[in-house]
Amino acid sequence: MKILITGGAGFIGSNFIFYMRETHPDYELVCLDKLTYAGNLETLAAVMDKPKFTFIRADIAGRDAIYGIFETEKPDVVVNFAAESHVDRSIENPSIFLQTNVLGTQVLLDACRRYGVRRYHQVSTDEVYGDLPLDRPDLFFTEQTPLHTSSPYSASKASADLLCNAYQRTYGVPITISRCSNNYGPYQFPEKLIPLMIANALADKPLPVYGEGLNVRDWLYVEDHCAAIDLILEKGKAGQVYNIGGRNEMKNIDIVKLICKALDKPESLITYVTDRKGHDMRYAIDPAFIHRELGWLPETKFADGIQKTIRWYLDNKSWWEKIVSGEYQNYYERMYGNR
Ligand code: NAD
Ligand code: TYD
Repeated sequence: MKILITGGAGFIGSNFIFYMRETHPDYELVCLDKLTYAGNLETLAAVMDKPKFTFIRADIAGRDAIYGIFETEKPDVVVNFAAESHVDRSIENPSIFLQTNVLGTQVLLDACRRYGVRRYHQVSTDEVYGDLPLDRPDLFFTEQTPLHTSSPYSASKASADLLCNAYQRTYGVPITISRCSNNYGPYQFPEKLIPLMIANALADKPLPVYGEGLNVRDWLYVEDHCAAIDLILEKGKAGQVYNIGGRNEMKNIDIVKLICKALDKPESLITYVTDRKGHDMRYAIDPAFIHRELGWLPETKFADGIQKTIRWYLDNKSWWEKIVSGEYQNYYERMYGNR
């Protein structure tokens, strides 16, 4: 079995590579990544020169390069993590989100159609469903919830999902889609809520909470997400969407306070700042379908996962300090430029 993993130098993709090497040591993994600001080859240092692992620097939206990679590597399965993933950046400049998330997905689907694969898996997000009101805790996103996006990011992800469905129906490409809630864990880029708050708190910098901090997200430990994708690849049905969620809703402000407490930092660091435009109020996944069909359940309790995550950021300061300073961006050239 050979799996092409796109976006594997990012947060969830790299965790997926580690998970799959551990769980299926016989699989061959090919990681394809453009190494944007969010991709970090240092994350993959432990597997870089190992057997059954190949890294290729490429853009999923570059048709010729992608066809060339499919021709040489002949993957059985493709898992597409590659994306522009930060809502705030999509509000600043939507163009690259459409380029990578929509057109890049189209190129991968065309390659699958042309060269044939056993499965194309699209890693999507619960954000395609829009948001839920805070005063209706009885409502959850199911696979039947209509797509109703708020940000350019979520609109680009929903567009990609629709393309996947179209390629399944029109051309018979065997696709699956998973829509996951907010992930947290090791190797998350420190522009996202949890790592940003940890990094700022450790530097005694202000902790910028948008609006009143009452927005709710459904947090899932990244390894549980990886296990769900593995299960979908093994037992999932082509054409099916699977919602993945932690049944773990938390208000932003409670997470920030928890991080202050864990790091022994004063809550006076919390600074309320102007709200995000179009800010979604609440995300909440109903994971009943994937539980019933594939037997998946989240295994990591938030109380344990957040402690593990904080510990990881404390133990791996050099990983994120270089990112914060921008130094990691020279890493690829320094390490691989003259090879
Ligand atoms: P990330 O931003 O940490 O990583 C994205 C990776 O994709 C980076 O390594 C980047 O270099 C690479 N990339 C970007 N554009 C590329 C291109 N054109 N060609 C090739 N590689 C490219 O993102 P993440 O948090 O790991 O998210 C991975 C996927 O999971 C995304 O599709 C995202 O929409 C989805 N998702 C994320 C979350 C979350 O909480 N982080 C939740 C649900 C779904
Ligand atoms: P984020 O990690 O960007 O994920 P998403 O927007 O995809 O859910 O943000 C999580 C929540 O935290 C979201 O409601 C926005 C909020 N937030 C802040 O309050 N301050 C921040 O500095 C960031 C990055 C996010």
